[in-house]
Amino acid sequence: MRHLITVDDFTNDEIDDLFKDATIFSSLQSCDMLQGKLVVTLFFENSTRTRSSFEIASKRLSAKVVNLDISTSSSSKGETIEDTIANLSAMKPDAIIIRHRNCGLPQSLTKYVKSPLINAGDGKNSHPTQALLDLYTIKEHFQNNIKNKKIAIVGDIKNSRVASSLLSLLPRFGIEPILVAPACFMPQTKFKTAKRLEDVIKDVDIVYSLRTQIERHEQSFYKTLDEFAKEYCVTKDIVKDYDILLMHPGPVNRNIDITDELLDDKRCKVLRQVTNGVAVRMAILKKLIKG
Ligand code: CP
Repeated sequence: MRHLITVDDFTNDEIDDLFKDATIFSSLQSCDMLQGKLVVTLFFENSTRTRSSFEIASKRLSAKVVNLDISTSSSSKGETIEDTIANLSAMKPDAIIIRHRNCGLPQSLTKYVKSPLINAGDGKNSHPTQALLDLYTIKEHFQNNIKNKKIAIVGDIKNSRVASSLLSLLPRFGIEPILVAPACFMPQTKFKTAKRLEDVIKDVDIVYSLRTQIERHEQSFYKTLDEFAKEYCVTKDIVKDYDILLMHPGPVNRNIDITDELLDDKRCKVLRQVTNGVAVRMAILKKLIKG
């Protein structure tokens, strides 16, 4: 039985195969690939994209979906997360998808399940399905010619599980990250860094803007997000008319992370990422449930 906890759970060959399936699924409205299967989702943190994307992906494959409502679950009566997972697993679902604020929790829960466990985000640790759909979107845009492309990842990199997964995944496919952040949001890294996007914009093929993860900050680094935005919001003044791809995982803080103007720019693939997310998650569900 396989799980997807981090991007390292799949080899490059497996990811290439996954993307071939995703391309087929992207042109299908529905199919009966997972007819009779049951997927359970547990989101202990809020989500718009990931939860609905997994639900739509499951339903497009004809699987049934149970979304556990955490606010009315027995977590509030003191049940441990380990017991919650073990009890859900005892009901024999075919996959369990979990998001939780605790880094490393999904890995530790694998010993309590009898079906594939998929990490939909654990704290600032990992968000493998987001990184996979981002890589798919990059490959789609560059028609698979992604070797030696450069990506500027901009913003609160230190607290971003998306950035963490991208930094593990993209270099495996020949994409070079450049980290653009103030000192307070810069992780320890072996990759190139820059203080300002203006310093590297001419050298990069992709700009990946991040949300400032205030909910994970132990102190406030800026008086207001507008202060942060003065230096790190991705604007037309910075990206000019360069031939680049603009990305963001969502949710977007408009005019803090990236401007309204650029969100409407034809170089911006934010909604394409979301569309591709369903197809990539269909491929992941197929791989883990059908084997
Ligand atoms: N990108 C992402 O994880 O979005 P949600 O928090 O809405 O799922």
